[in-house]
Amino acid sequence: MGKDLVKVGLVGTGTIGGSVVELLKRNGSSINEKIDFKIALGRVADRDVTRLQALKLDKSMLTTEANDVLEDPDIDIVIELIGGLEPARSFITKALENGKYVVTANKDLMATHGEELLALASENNRNIFYEASVGGGIPLIRPLKYSLVADRIQRLVGIVNGTTNYIFTRMAQDELSLEDALSEAQKFGFAEPDPTNDVEGLDAAYKLVIMASLAFGKKADLENISVQGIREVTYEDIVYAREIGCTIKLLAIGEDLPGGLALRVHPTLVPLEHPLSSVLNELNAVFVEAEAVREVMFYGPGAGPLPTATAVLADVVEAARCIRFEVANGVVESKLKETEFVPIDDLKVRFYLRFLAEDRAGIFAALANAFSDEGVSLDMITQKRRVGSMAEIVLVTHEVNEKAFHSALNKVMDTSAIKPEPSIIRLLS
Ligand code: HSE
Repeated sequence: MGKDLVKVGLVGTGTIGGSVVELLKRNGSSINEKIDFKIALGRVADRDVTRLQALKLDKSMLTTEANDVLEDPDIDIVIELIGGLEPARSFITKALENGKYVVTANKDLMATHGEELLALASENNRNIFYEASVGGGIPLIRPLKYSLVADRIQRLVGIVNGTTNYIFTRMAQDELSLEDALSEAQKFGFAEPDPTNDVEGLDAAYKLVIMASLAFGKKADLENISVQGIREVTYEDIVYAREIGCTIKLLAIGEDLPGGLALRVHPTLVPLEHPLSSVLNELNAVFVEAEAVREVMFYGPGAGPLPTATAVLADVVEAARCIRFEVANGVVESKLKETEFVPIDDLKVRFYLRFLAEDRAGIFAALANAFSDEGVSLDMITQKRRVGSMAEIVLVTHEVNEKAFHSALNKVMDTSAIKPEPSIIRLLS
């Protein structure tokens, strides 16, 4: 049996770090009762003295130097909550080399350098736990790593970005434009002052890299993901989607296909009968389809200081159990298989399309014929508002190969009757 007092060091006391300290103060003794040994905070580092003082901890525990935590021989577990690639990567490297377990919420780092850091952890007989890096307070990493390990996951479909989900919910419920919904999200703290990574889909892509590696046991990088953000989606799209029984969500989709992994992030029309359609506001959910279990969904707060702090502390407990029960590093997922990737062009999907066309007799027939000549079968075509002298047309295709669809679209759009730049959104099927 290993030591019965496990000491934890914290680097970074921003909103999540502050909540980790708060939750540990609040629930520390009940955690210790449950696990039947002791976890205690040892040292806390932050460059910002005001933030350190606000934690109301014993002064002897506080330092402005991360190295004081990373090199403290009494510290067993280092929680890294500074975010970003550097110096987080160097700090984690040093912590592992100094024989410490690491807990992090850093999705950018785990998506970019996770494999290398996990290998280093393994070499040092230690481990990195990163439940809080995806889905905030939703148990997601642990179910993918342990609970579903006996199954073969075929597809995971996730709403993993709270900012964009909040924006789409406000657009639908309050009849707002995307810009107004984004401003509201910023006003209420659901979007960062610079929401570029959220709106452009990069945040979801990072999370998809992490989830896909665990779900499929295969190596994936950001560059293997086709990423499209939400900027082009309008209020009209939300309304027309609703008319055909769908809602719009930014989805991260990972599929294990015979030809390899297909990974994509894009705005998607989700049928109202699909459980993901009822995930509103800043909440997140991941829907997993697997051979034996068939379907499971993980749902909850994908961000927020206290929910994320619960995930961080659960990881601390897992690391502490490794120490207490001397199991070295538990499960280290560094042996990911190389895989091929199926480009989005090779996938078959259904498309929703909205564009303006001349409002004259025969235009529907001409459009339907033009698509049909290119092998694209339409499921629905309808005329909406008049915009100046043009008619707004919405159509939905049957399932079609992505590349064939775009080549057909180029030809169809290449007529003088149609204004370019259609709004194109894929459907979830
Ligand atoms: N910015 C993220 C989101 C939260 O909006 O979901 C942190 O991952």
